[in-house]
Amino acid sequence: MASEKIIEVQNITINFEGKIALSSLSFSVKKGERVALIGPSGAGKTTLLNTIATFIKPSDGQLVIDQVDSSELNDRKKLARKIGMIRQQFDLVHQLPVVHNVLAGKLGQWGFFKSLWSLIFPQEKAIAIRALERVGLKDKLYEKTANLSGGEQQRVALARLLVQSPEIILADEPVASLDPARAEDVLSMLTKLVMEENQTLITSLHSVEYAKKYFTRIIALRDGAVFFDLPVDEIQAEDLASLYQLKEHM
Ligand SMILES: Nc1ncnc2c1ncn2[C@@H]1O[C@H](COP(=O)(O)OP(=O)(O)OP(=O)(O)O)[C@@H](O)[C@H]1O
Ligand SMILES: [Mg+2]
Repeated sequence: MASEKIIEVQNITINFEGKIALSSLSFSVKKGERVALIGPSGAGKTTLLNTIATFIKPSDGQLVIDQVDSSELNDRKKLARKIGMIRQQFDLVHQLPVVHNVLAGKLGQWGFFKSLWSLIFPQEKAIAIRALERVGLKDKLYEKTANLSGGEQQRVALARLLVQSPEIILADEPVASLDPARAEDVLSMLTKLVMEENQTLITSLHSVEYAKKYFTRIIALRDGAVFFDLPVDEIQAEDLASLYQLKEHM
């Protein structure tokens, strides 16, 4: 169902040793939405993504993933089918061939190291080839991952996500280290793949331009709270100006 809520963040507060990183945050995301998370440095974007990924436990409030309270999501393998995360550093093991990194998605990130060292059976190899084909890297199957460029490594991380095939994809500044052409390449590929699979995507970004171009909705965070939450076509220049305005000028 198109209107189904897949993520519900309800009054979530994250407290790091007395410092409030997220302050009673609430919003929900429907299946198939593509949400860009923007906001100044320190606003809480990474903390929010890590919370939705269940890496951080809220100090207060509730997280509901596909009708299930996050405190009940204890089965790591099931969770890996629900949520996949892609980080700025991509979490790839550079000494290993590309194929191992791609197949790490198969067992989910919690069986990560075990799956990296596992034997590759022909059937699995076919899965890896298919995923690498979709990101345009079929010829790099046995290449040492370290030898790939930043943009290519990011595509390997995308191929791993394709193999994992989670319903929700969280990406923390996935294009921060790439030049503009590579960044657009990775974002257009990521959003295309997500649309093909009707997955739900939340990506933190520092580029408002990319947020508007590739996403359906923008949630802006400032000081651990939602500053605005709007469909991309309703965002005004003033909203953005005040979001990034330095405090001493406010
Ligand atoms: N593990 C931690 N321990 C203590 N404080 C933390 C921790 N992680 C984040 N914080 C604090 O929480 C706030 C939010 O940080 P967060 O990393 O989520 O911001 P961000 O929006 O991702 O910033 P950036 O755009 O620079 O990546 C910051 O003030 C940060 O210092
Ligand atoms: Mg961050």
